[in-house]
Amino acid sequence: SGHGEGSRGSLIVLEGLDRSGKTSQSSRLVSFLEGRGVPVETWHFPDRRTSIGGMISSYLANNAQLDDRAIHLLFSANRWEKRSLMEAKLKSGTSLIVDRYSYSGVAFSAAKGLAIEWCKAPEEGLIAPDMVVYLDILPERAAERGGYGNERYEQLEFQRKVSDNYHDLSDSTWKIIDACLPEEDIQTQLRSLALECITGCRSGKPLSTLWL
Ligand code: TMP
Repeated sequence: SGHGEGSRGSLIVLEGLDRSGKTSQSSRLVSFLEGRGVPVETWHFPDRRTSIGGMISSYLANNAQLDDRAIHLLFSANRWEKRSLMEAKLKSGTSLIVDRYSYSGVAFSAAKGLAIEWCKAPEEGLIAPDMVVYLDILPERAAERGGYGNERYEQLEFQRKVSDNYHDLSDSTWKIIDACLPEEDIQTQLRSLALECITGCRSGKPLSTLWL
C-alpha cells in the first residue's frame, strides 16, 4: 500500500526508570512493526559501541570517575554523533524506536544536583521525538524487580530523584503507560500508540528540533 513519495519515518522515544521494562517492550514493538511491513529499527542511548560510548560505559561500571558535567556532556555528545544518521534514516522512511534519549540525559544528571536548564542546553538542536512514551513505575516498585545491578545509578534514593525530574520534564504530549500492568497490556497500548504516530508522520508532519 503506497506510503507516498518522500514519506518519513517516526522518531518514537521510550523513557522510564531503570527496570521499567523499556528495553523488552521496545524490542517486542519493533518485531511487531516489522511483521506489519513497517521499516523500523530499534536504537538505544547510550550507544556504547562508539568511543564516546565506551567512556560512558566504563563510567557507569564505576571503572572511571568523571566530573558530573563532563559525563553529562559525553551522554549528549553520544546523541550528537548519531544525529545525522538519525536524520537520514527518518528521511528515508525508517521509523526509529529509541530506548532513552535527551530526557534521560536531563533527568539523571539533574538528580545529581545540576540545574535543569544547564542540563537541557547541550540537547538543543537534536531531532525532537514525534512521540515520547513514559513507562511509569514507582521507584520502590522498580527496585523490587530485583534487577538492580552494580551500575552507578541503580540505587533507590537516586532513582527517586530521577523520577521527580521525569515528572517535571513531562508535558501533556507524553503518553504515559502504567509499567506495572501485565506485559501484554503494555505492549498492546504501545502498538496502537506507535501505529497512530507512524501514520501521522507519513502524512507530512515535518521534523522538528529540541526543545519543543
Ligand atoms: P541503560 O541501562 O539504558 O543502558 O542506561 C544506562 C544508564 O545511563 C541508566 O541508568 C540511565 C543513564 N543515562 C544517563 O544518565 N544519561 C543519558 O543521557 C542516558 C541516555 C542514560
